[in-house]
Amino acid sequence: MNILHLSAECYPVAKVGGLGDVVGALPKYQNKLGIYASVVLPFYDRKFTQENALEQVYLGSAELGQKTFDFEVLKETHDVLGFPLYLIKIPGLLDRSEVYSYPDETEQFVAYQIAVLEWVIKTNFKVDVFHCHDHHSGLVPFLIQHSRKFNALTRVASVCTIHNGQYQGWMGWNKFYYLPEVDLSQTGLLDWGGCINPLAAAVKCCWAYTTVSPSYLEELKVNSNGLEFLFELEQHKGIGIINGIDTDVWDPATDAMIVSNYNQTNIKLGKEANKIAICEEFNLDAKKPLVTFIGRMVLEKGADKLAELIEECLSQFKNEVSFLILGSGDKVIEEEINNLKLADCAVVIGYNEALSHRIYASADFILMPSRVEPCGLNQLYALKYGTVPIVRSTGGLKDSVIDFDEENGYGIRFEELELTQMIQAVKRAIDLFKNQKKLNQLRQLMMGLDFSWDQSAQQYINLYANLISKKNDSI
Ligand code: ADP
Ligand code: GLC
Repeated sequence: MNILHLSAECYPVAKVGGLGDVVGALPKYQNKLGIYASVVLPFYDRKFTQENALEQVYLGSAELGQKTFDFEVLKETHDVLGFPLYLIKIPGLLDRSEVYSYPDETEQFVAYQIAVLEWVIKTNFKVDVFHCHDHHSGLVPFLIQHSRKFNALTRVASVCTIHNGQYQGWMGWNKFYYLPEVDLSQTGLLDWGGCINPLAAAVKCCWAYTTVSPSYLEELKVNSNGLEFLFELEQHKGIGIINGIDTDVWDPATDAMIVSNYNQTNIKLGKEANKIAICEEFNLDAKKPLVTFIGRMVLEKGADKLAELIEECLSQFKNEVSFLILGSGDKVIEEEINNLKLADCAVVIGYNEALSHRIYASADFILMPSRVEPCGLNQLYALKYGTVPIVRSTGGLKDSVIDFDEENGYGIRFEELELTQMIQAVKRAIDLFKNQKKLNQLRQLMMGLDFSWDQSAQQYINLYANLISKKNDSI
């Protein structure tokens, strides 16, 4: 079985958030399970592409509207990722350093998808399933079914994974001419609310869609930025598969980025050594419970509530707790948090992969007050590093964290994004920290949980196999 993953991100080539982690790991685990999975990304001018050997495997051209563009397909030659990686390079469009936020993002991703299909057809690249991640490749299921140019691919299955339904890649109908000639009787499939909506088109046209946790599959029907009715309508094609973690990258026993490695047999010592180092680095008191937040500072993550929560906690529980915050995103939220200037609170605005590893290893608690959390990887990494997650009960957080008051529980959960509930959750963390025996039992339990990719990667493989066999039966 040959799977081609299409994505905007893939760790360590280009990562902005969890999408990168997933696409950098899932194909590797799928290959270990005996199928042939590759990834095709837009080309980014970043550390990975500068430092790794890339070979040109295809040189071609295609059209974006009336304009012809040349493109190269580059392949990473030393198999450093555990799966074949292909990069679509288009001079002036896909050769930049950042992943998102260019004013011509629509042109970038439409051209990327057209180039991928062109390359697959021209080289007879063997694909049984196009696995499209988020809206950046959402037009592919439509194009292979309804554009004459790509009709050699009509019988290739398409699976679309929704990592984040809030972003849908909307484009005005005035950009319809960017697409190659399509069957005009089918253009309604592209539309949602008067715009071309690539995520909606993907859901309508794909053979199956997945969400990155079972709870998120349900939540999309009531909260998906305008697509609720569509998710209700198409639910027979949907399945929730929870993300895993890549234990080659995220394991405190082998993690080269942390100060002191540890495992279940020496958790207490290991975490202490890491905590002492980070507290020295950020001028915090290692004797106090350390609560952290790592992530995008956006409304989805509840980051707008952090500044007030920290202020309240540091006034109500004076000298009893400390905070370490790492993140970036919305400038107003960043500024609010950065302006705190309180003892017992350190803030780093920015993106720092190595620091994030050191924080997972050293913190006692990680706070995730998300409004929406399709899966969330932070809590999964935290569990692996013996760090107690404090989470709002939503999406993948609900599916992966059991409150320690429940049977076999290990985390702290709260229901509403409301200050009193969040303060109460921090209070429970402080009390738990005072009971070191209990805390260490929970750490043991958390580190023994299996959230590795093996199971979820197999679930995707079963899904592909089902789709392919159903199609064969219908011939
Ligand atoms: P999302 O994809 O919605 O941002 P996830 O929880 O799925 O959320 O994944 C976030 C990933 O990005 C994790 O690997 C987390 O450690 C990482 N991350 C987020 N912000 C930062 C940051 N400022 N510095 C380093 N790593 C970060
Ligand atoms: C998205 C979601 C996050 C999820 C990640 C990987 O960015 O916001 O919850 O973990 O994708 O699937």
